[in-house]
Amino acid sequence: MIVALGSDHAGFPLKEKIKEHLLERGYEVLDMGTTSRDSTHYPIFAKEVALSVQEGRAQRGILICGTGIGMSITANKFRGVRAALCCNEYMARMSRLHNDANVLCLGDRVIGEELALAIVDVWLETPFEGGRHEKRVDLIKEIEKENL
Ligand code: RB5
Repeated sequence: MIVALGSDHAGFPLKEKIKEHLLERGYEVLDMGTTSRDSTHYPIFAKEVALSVQEGRAQRGILICGTGIGMSITANKFRGVRAALCCNEYMARMSRLHNDANVLCLGDRVIGEELALAIVDVWLETPFEGGRHEKRVDLIKEIEKENL
């Protein structure tokens, strides 16, 4: 699985940790930046990761900023992207089971590194449940056709 990663300056340290963690576990990583703690703008990186998922260059994306909020707002502007801001493992699991989320957003200033890595693991390993949830995701796609 190819995972696209992106962060702004606030999320940079956690992005680097997640990158290391994923590479150790055999995932292929597409690092879209940022590359330092120098102040930058989260929409730039949300766009790059969202496009890489939308175009199929990556199967999943992970975005990190201070709160994860700016990243999730931006990524969800892209058709086909279902970005979920998750603060715990339960939200990560449910975002996959019920919402088929393909982008995970995290807040570096909200959660610690250990929790972040646990969220990443459960999010990458949990399948979409389908069934009644398929219809709901299809309804999201209908809304995208009308609005994005
Ligand atoms: C940067 O200070 C901060 O605003 C950004 O990382 C993010 O939290 C925005 O949603």
